[in-house]
Amino acid sequence: MSDLSEPVIAVARLGKVYRSGFRMKRVQALKDISLEIERGEIFGFLGPNGAGKTTLIKILMGLTEPTSGTALVFGRPPRDAAAKARLGFLPESPYFYDHLTAREFLRLAAQLSGVTSADVAGRVTGLLRLLRMEHSADVQMRTFSRGMLQRVGIAQALVADPELVVLDEPMGGLDPVGRKEFRDIIIDLRERGKTVFFSTHILSDVEMICDRVGIVIDGRMVEVGRLNQILTDAADSIEVTVRGVTGKTQKILERVSQHAIKSGDELLLTVRNDEDVDKVMAICREVGGIRVVGLVPHRKTLEEYFMAHVERAGRAS
Ligand SMILES: Nc1ncnc2c1ncn2[C@@H]1O[C@H](COP(=O)(O)OP(=O)(O)OP(=O)(O)O)[C@@H](O)[C@H]1O
Ligand SMILES: [Mg+2]
Repeated sequence: MSDLSEPVIAVARLGKVYRSGFRMKRVQALKDISLEIERGEIFGFLGPNGAGKTTLIKILMGLTEPTSGTALVFGRPPRDAAAKARLGFLPESPYFYDHLTAREFLRLAAQLSGVTSADVAGRVTGLLRLLRMEHSADVQMRTFSRGMLQRVGIAQALVADPELVVLDEPMGGLDPVGRKEFRDIIIDLRERGKTVFFSTHILSDVEMICDRVGIVIDGRMVEVGRLNQILTDAADSIEVTVRGVTGKTQKILERVSQHAIKSGDELLLTVRNDEDVDKVMAICREVGGIRVVGLVPHRKTLEEYFMAHVERAGRAS
């Protein structure tokens, strides 16, 4: 057994250069990525198309070698069989032998993963139930929608009851109901103490379920942390609602704000920072008869945050 405090995934100063085509054109897919994932974490690896998500996952799966730096899974090189035995993997756009039924395929996956024959049937039935596929378990997969195939893929990653689950774009092709169900599955895995590492380019996918996210843009990890922390740090304005405002005070208040909207006797002010909130408060105290009734930091949405980074990266290159 391994040390429980040891990170499940440890990546240090990882770089990957691909050389492709006749001219061996150099593509630097990963640049100096360092990251540790602890046991029990749900980690969202977020980045736009071509950012390097699949490349990092391929290195973690031992499918490709890094050009520089190191990657360890359960403290071992990714190609080590002992590391492999403890993880489940869903590749991007997996292919399934579509003449099999979902149950047949999962049974095969269980057998190949070393699930004992006595456990196979029960394990498969449990997964079909978890992924709400019981009704279509005995139909050939060629009739399945993309969302249904994605569920089979997730079930296949879980078949050996792994400690670590690595999923490349697991929500691709899922409709909103499927996405919600996927989130429930992840929450269930967290409750069972599993570690989950998944990639996505869809911001809302990480928002509700991840303990931490890493944002990768153009091969570089631009941010790692708790999502609400990342977004709070990125807060760029505060909305202050003031009640009982008259014409004269409105003018004074408008001077300290970036933007003001009057609605009845309420004034909604957008200010830049805490100091400006203090100024609004001071004015209210001085004038009398007006009160601050609302204070809402305008949290940048992850979308805005992301776009700002992408634009900055674009300008820099
Ligand atoms: N085998 C390869 N040979 C050459 N270049 C590659 C290879 N695989 C990936 N790349 C390039 O490396 C960069 C990162 O690709 P990668 O597939 O890791 O990105 P991604 O974040 O997974 O993107 P997506 O969201 O589209 O899946 C891209 O510029 C891609 O074109
Ligand atoms: Mg990818």
